[in-house]
Amino acid sequence: MKLVKLSAIVMAVALLGLGLVGTSYAFHSGGVAECTGCHEMHGAKGASLLQGSDISSTCLLCHGRSGQSNYHISTPVADMATGVPPVNMTPGGDFGWLRKDYIFLSHGSLTTDLGQTHGHNIIAADAGYTVDTDNPTAPGGTFNSNNLACNSCHDNHGKGRWTTAQTYSKNSGAIYTSGSYGALPTTFSTGELLSTGVYRLLRAQDTVDGVTFPNTPPVAVAPSTYNRSEYYTQTRVAYGSGMSDYCGTCHADMHSTAGILRHPQGVTVSGTIVGNYNSYVMSGNMNGSSATSYLSLVPYEEGLAYSTANVTSLKGRAQINDSQLTGMPATATVMCLSCHRAHASGFPEMTRWSNEGEFIVQAGLYPGTDNADSNSANGRSQAETAAGYYNKNVTNFSAYQRSLCNKCHAKD
Ligand code: HEC
Ligand code: HEC
Ligand code: HEC
Ligand code: HEC
Ligand code: HEC
Ligand code: HEC
Repeated sequence: MKLVKLSAIVMAVALLGLGLVGTSYAFHSGGVAECTGCHEMHGAKGASLLQGSDISSTCLLCHGRSGQSNYHISTPVADMATGVPPVNMTPGGDFGWLRKDYIFLSHGSLTTDLGQTHGHNIIAADAGYTVDTDNPTAPGGTFNSNNLACNSCHDNHGKGRWTTAQTYSKNSGAIYTSGSYGALPTTFSTGELLSTGVYRLLRAQDTVDGVTFPNTPPVAVAPSTYNRSEYYTQTRVAYGSGMSDYCGTCHADMHSTAGILRHPQGVTVSGTIVGNYNSYVMSGNMNGSSATSYLSLVPYEEGLAYSTANVTSLKGRAQINDSQLTGMPATATVMCLSCHRAHASGFPEMTRWSNEGEFIVQAGLYPGTDNADSNSANGRSQAETAAGYYNKNVTNFSAYQRSLCNKCHAKD
């Protein structure tokens, strides 16, 4: 038993050491992983016979290791000296941003930008993550922040699956592979019907700590290499549908527009928005074309529900080589992840770009305390600001680039 457990961990470490990326090392394979990767039958550290002191600490045994590697999503605090950003650039984002407190002068007064506002404060004692002290519950909802863990959002046992009937189920058909990269349910040579997992093992039709995810899981396809700098080319996740409903499970009032004034989401965009998105290049330049207008910093859903045809179509666009930069279709919807990341980001309120200050690029540089533009750096080094934008080459923006709300609204 012990040997098995060690082999799983040692294997993960060994692969990390080699810096391997891609889907080379399977652990969950879209469903429940090797039991002893998370559980310890005799002498466990945490409740439910877990390997770590608590749920998220267990996940972070693998997902929180040093170095950039495909499935790493939390840079250890020891790797982030002052001015040094987290290393992972996944679509969901690196929880390490939660450890980045910034204190700086703004209009002459001392201002704090606490790390805990940069994302979801998962509780993981072994990795030093603690509860958010400002949000006792999910803003706009009732979910208790003391219970926030990796498995509040992901099913630790990965039971959700898409079947050959193109329906969602918790038990119909063995899961043969991940549902995140465009694989389809299939019939094995023996005639057995095989299912795939769901996107990122996300919860659906489950109740966890008092909230119920009512819908089927979000539909999206990620490229198989997804943790990378976007200096040269973008990492395009092709989002289909369902993400806003998913987030809305815990943030009901952020989701509903009944009686409260909220930014629209989950609604089909107007022709004006499509026109803006597809011609916007940067502040002061609206000469783009719909064939090359996609921007991974401002994604949208394509309005595609689960079907094998739609998944195949999304897979075609889930690229990392800029071969598929086609812009917004008329069926697109604005979603929570158009403006937010799912885990954490370099900016307050977990937004994909800075919404504090008028310029996100000034005098051709990402603002930094270590360059000429220290005024709008908000305490960050230039390297940290750049990492917030996944190191996208600054020349893709105007020398005086304003908020990326303009990708859809063109008010600049
Ligand atoms: C990716 C990590 C992970 C893997 C792999 C895993 N578990 Fe778990 N398991 C958990 C976590 C986390 C909990 C605690 C859930 C909670 O308290 O909300 C848990 C709880 C349990 C429980 C008690 C609660 C319940 O859901 O019934 C059982 C039984 C269980 N696991 C069995 C298994 C078996 C059998 C396997 C292998 C087929 C397995 N687990 C694989 C993470 C994992
Ligand atoms: C023993 C190491 C290990 C542990 C412990 C572990 N994971 Fe993973 N996880 C991996 C590896 C390796 C991958 C990439 C390969 C794969 O998806 O099977 C991965 C992938 C994932 C993915 C993406 C899967 C997909 O199909 O897109 C999610 C989500 C995830 N893990 C969540 C969790 C959660 C939540 C826990 C804790 C309950 C956890 N993991 C515990 C090693 C681990
Ligand atoms: C608030 C919900 C939420 C929490 C909490 C959460 N995740 Fe995720 N996670 C998501 C969503 C949504 C995605 C897909 C993001 C995307 O594709 O834009 C994701 C993506 C991932 C991925 C794929 C890589 C990436 O970042 O896109 C891994 C691995 C993963 N999560 C592991 C974890 C682990 C481990 C934890 C706990 C330390 C965790 N997640 C906590 C919602 C969550
Ligand atoms: C399982 C419940 C749950 C789900 C699902 C969930 N959240 Fe949260 N969220 C919380 C809790 C609890 C907090 C408050 C604790 C915190 O801020 O760390 C929170 C805080 C936030 C914040 C404020 C962060 C800050 O500190 O200012 C944002 C923004 C956010 N969530 C967006 C999202 C988005 C986008 C999604 C979908 C990808 C999502 N949430 C899904 C529970 C959830
Ligand atoms: C058009 C962009 C955009 C969309 C779409 C969007 N948000 Fe936000 N959200 C923001 C910005 C910007 C802030 C921070 C400034 C503010 O609160 O006005 C924010 C703040 C938040 C906060 C923190 C509020 C607080 O009181 O601390 C939560 C939680 C949140 N959003 C959740 C969501 C969820 C869930 C969705 C989808 C249902 C969503 N947002 C959709 C841009 C957006
Ligand atoms: C992915 C595209 C997208 C992004 C990014 C976006 N919006 Fe919007 N916004 C929309 C859509 C769609 C509408 C609904 C009107 C329409 O379709 O023309 C809208 C409407 C609005 C409205 C009018 C709301 C009303 O009730 O009349 C305001 C104000 C607004 N957005 C502000 C913002 C701000 C500020 C940001 C950045 C934090 C932002 N938007 C980012 C797509 C977007």
